[in-house]
Amino acid sequence: MKYLTFKNGDKIPMIGLGTYKADEGRVYEGIRSAIKIGYRHFDCAHNYGNEAEIGQALADAMAEGEVTREELWITSKLWNDSHQEHEVEPAIKHTLKNLQLDYLDLYLIHWPMAVKHGHEFPDKAENFYKPGEISLSETWAGMLKLREKGLAKHVGVSNFNVAQINQIIADTGEVPEMNQIEVHPYLQQNELKEHADSTGYFITAYKPIGSGDLVNENMKKRGIPSMMQNETLVKIAEELNAPVSHVLLAWLRQRGIVAVPKSSNATRQEENFKSMSLELTDDHMDAISTLEKGFRYVDATFFCGGESPYTVEDIWGK
Ligand SMILES: NC(=O)c1ccc[n+]([C@@H]2O[C@H](COP(=O)([O-])OP(=O)(O)OC[C@H]3O[C@@H](n4cnc5c(N)ncnc54)[C@H](OP(=O)(O)O)[C@@H]3O)[C@@H](O)[C@H]2O)c1
Repeated sequence: MKYLTFKNGDKIPMIGLGTYKADEGRVYEGIRSAIKIGYRHFDCAHNYGNEAEIGQALADAMAEGEVTREELWITSKLWNDSHQEHEVEPAIKHTLKNLQLDYLDLYLIHWPMAVKHGHEFPDKAENFYKPGEISLSETWAGMLKLREKGLAKHVGVSNFNVAQINQIIADTGEVPEMNQIEVHPYLQQNELKEHADSTGYFITAYKPIGSGDLVNENMKKRGIPSMMQNETLVKIAEELNAPVSHVLLAWLRQRGIVAVPKSSNATRQEENFKSMSLELTDDHMDAISTLEKGFRYVDATFFCGGESPYTVEDIWGK
């Protein structure tokens, strides 16, 4: 396993298991198989609705001596309905209870937008807070208190743009330790990666394998092939005698980006884990850098439109 090292010496494994849309009832087995394969990093979130099942799998694996708490890296995320400063600690405590843990290794603000408590995906205007009504710095102040109290060893953000990160740093003097964002060859995030390197935080990539074979309506409209069918990626994979998924994950690792591919299937979990041993050449890296399309699988339109006061520009920046 390769790691990135935080300022206090803690090490985050560069590959973790994503758990979004891990089907209810299959999550438990998925976590147990991943631990047997060697995964120690698990990317969770309150909003995925499966933390209790994950917690049971982690507890059983620890009870059976497969892994210790110290060997695990557990990330979770604060949902949009708990952005007021006083709501942050109850939210992490709820997550910790579900996960059967005393602390998280990393806790992230899931999205830079706020909704009224108890309305996870509101459709009525009155159930949203308007952009800025609860400042991101207020939520960030709540997150920093969790680190002081030891409830989360590290704190950061997710889906934040450069301006939002600069704002919370300006208001609190504290740099988030991580920004979890969508990154893959069709959305390379060079601006945020440069900002992370110059400011001193890490990036975790979600959708690191572009959802496998998925070709959604937007991709069809734009004639974008699935990542697995992309000619350049297939050619590199054939040259290295490796699956395309390894090429995608090695590309992230060699850019110094953590990846959290999701799979509930033990064979694919193992395949993704083994990407750690693949090395791309500079020519491969250069060829992949030409694939940028500004394409988002997670475009955040589900938070916008209708009576929502948010636009996609509020979330991703102008
Ligand atoms: N912060 C955020 O807002 C945010 C947003 C989205 C995701 N995330 C996190 O990032 C994780 C990863 O993102 P994601 O799950 O959306 O997408 P992903 O990891 O890019 O793709 C997962 C999909 O690809 C399939 N797959 C996995 N390994 C494969 C392989 N080697 N070859 C072909 N197909 C493969 C999986 O199916 P099987 O399960 O059947 O293998 C699943 O359908 C999430 O689980 C979540 O933890 C965070």
